[in-house]
Amino acid sequence: MDWGIQNRLSRLIQPDGHALFLPIDHGYFQGPTSRLEHPGKTIAPLLPYADALFVTRGVLRACVDPAEPTPIILRVSGGTSVVGGDLSNEGLTTSMEDAVRLNVSAVGLSIFVGHEYERQSLLNLGKLVDKGISYGMPVMAVTAVGKELERREARYLGLACRIAAELGAQVVKTYYCAKDFDKVVAGCPVPVVMAGGPQTETELEVFEFVYDGIQKGAIGVNLGRNIWKHDCPVAMIKAIRAIIHDSINPNQAQDIFETVKNEK
Ligand code: 5RP
Repeated sequence: MDWGIQNRLSRLIQPDGHALFLPIDHGYFQGPTSRLEHPGKTIAPLLPYADALFVTRGVLRACVDPAEPTPIILRVSGGTSVVGGDLSNEGLTTSMEDAVRLNVSAVGLSIFVGHEYERQSLLNLGKLVDKGISYGMPVMAVTAVGKELERREARYLGLACRIAAELGAQVVKTYYCAKDFDKVVAGCPVPVVMAGGPQTETELEVFEFVYDGIQKGAIGVNLGRNIWKHDCPVAMIKAIRAIIHDSINPNQAQDIFETVKNEK
């Protein structure tokens, strides 16, 4: 792997081999999602605990202080919306030159395996990886399921992750699944991070799946809504960070959550 790509990856993946990425890119097709209406305010207390921020160039330029030391993963695919046509009909929205100008540490795009525009999204990935290799820029592929959340099972996720890695992604983001997640990770020869998905009913559910996913080989998370939509986002991110970087179990994470929550 090229030195530049390795250098950028080392900003994102910590010396313990693990990572907590905080995504706030949801507005690129959902608009002003609740609790993310003012992204700068939402992320201010959370950034000290994130290893990277996943964000579009518009929000980065408008809402993030250029002096902010947290590394950036730039969302570079889009072109669809929740009220438009097929969500899988994405193209590349941002040039590699702009990503370099913004001094980001990686770029990210969605692939839609099994959807109408599967081929287009996979060719987007191939082109982005080619550009990334030219510029020393790692690519994170997001295995998107669009509105079909029921696709979050091992056979599908394993297929999507492996295809992303085969096409050259250096990191793959996927969903956790309770059954056979170890097989999803084992079939993917590059690091896997887990998305959080829609908000769960309890904090413990998040702590349990993050813990289990790490035991099964994921290097960490790219987890948004279950942090910043929560009433106590700082308590959530601190507890999740401790699972990822301090190897604590879900009950210990719950203790951290309660302690931080009650500090208020
Ligand atoms: C949205 C994304 C998000 O980055 C990803 O889904 C993770 O966020 P969440 O934990 O909220 O699911 O790609 O397009």
